[in-house]
Amino acid sequence: MSVIHRRKVGGRNLLFTHSSDGVIRAFYNSCPHRGALVCREGKGNAKVFRCFYHAWSFNNQGELVGLPDKEGFLEDHNCDGSKNMMAVKRLESYRGFIFVNFDDNAISLEDYLGNAKEYLDLVADQTEVGMEVLQDSQEYSVRANWKLLCENSFDLYHGVPTHKTYFDIVATRGGIMEKGSLVGEAHDLGNGHAVMEYYAPWPRPIGKWIEGYGEEAKEIIEKINARLVERFGEERAHRISKKNRNILIFPNLVINDIMAIAIRTFYPIEPGYIEVSAYALAPKNETENFKQVRNDSYLEFLGPGGFATPDDNEALELCQEGFANNKEVEWNDISKGMNRAIPQATDEAQMRAFWREWNVRIMDAEAKKIDAGRVKV
Ligand code: FES
Ligand code: FE
Repeated sequence: MSVIHRRKVGGRNLLFTHSSDGVIRAFYNSCPHRGALVCREGKGNAKVFRCFYHAWSFNNQGELVGLPDKEGFLEDHNCDGSKNMMAVKRLESYRGFIFVNFDDNAISLEDYLGNAKEYLDLVADQTEVGMEVLQDSQEYSVRANWKLLCENSFDLYHGVPTHKTYFDIVATRGGIMEKGSLVGEAHDLGNGHAVMEYYAPWPRPIGKWIEGYGEEAKEIIEKINARLVERFGEERAHRISKKNRNILIFPNLVINDIMAIAIRTFYPIEPGYIEVSAYALAPKNETENFKQVRNDSYLEFLGPGGFATPDDNEALELCQEGFANNKEVEWNDISKGMNRAIPQATDEAQMRAFWREWNVRIMDAEAKKIDAGRVKV
């Protein structure tokens, strides 16, 4: 039996299986017979996948195990494996985050993540028992270019003006803006990845209690913190539990470890329109009540119906509208913090890291086109 998940990644329809042998596999969800999607469910459990169209069946290793009217095919019909589901060649993982790559020549995932691994560790180390995605993904769309959501996901400068309503609500529950709130640093992590790490007035289920969480949560958070100190020492435990971090793995994976942990991926459907999938990540061993506290925190700020995400989407759509003037208004300003030796979390070094990589990749792509004897029109 396998746990299965269907996902669209980079325009490809994929099927992920996690089998009882512990192996995670990814297949192109296309029937090798005449191309239909083999698996139509979003997620579930299955031993065998049977194609709806002519009922070819495949096991959870993608091998053909059922072929109606077998006599109509050559005896050695699958000796070259061409009637099996095609596996995605490159499937790599880091700390439980699974990545696929469609480029045989790309560098390894470890090398690609590089300095960003340190920040994924700070998320994964929040528990000894592993993390899990809570419930199903949230799917929504924004009428804006995908790169605007990259920028927004690690932009702390907009926090107070755009999300004032949320900050006001947090203050009524004891999460006041103190000296030091929203103070932190931004780091260019290379390969277009970047992060901002900072303190905030909102609660954190891993390490910052406020009155609005209730008394029971206070004790739980104290225990979690004590264990983190045992495992990692004061300094790293403090960093894991008290600091917030918004991470962008270039180009389109966002991990916002703030009052809850949100994972977002997004794909452009057209230049001014994206579809977003968002997931809440949490330690597997939380109590039901505490899970509820975390989930409330997630939904009320990060969820598509929360206090922040609709505001962010409004801002992105306003930018997209404003870009209609790009014949005359050609440039954006992302210079904040260029006058400081160490960029602050509320600066724009993160955006510069992203756009530098984007620029390199566009240049590369243009150079390849020229190599191939074509030029941009
Ligand atoms: Fe799948 Fe024919 S298309 S069995
Ligand atoms: Fe925001």
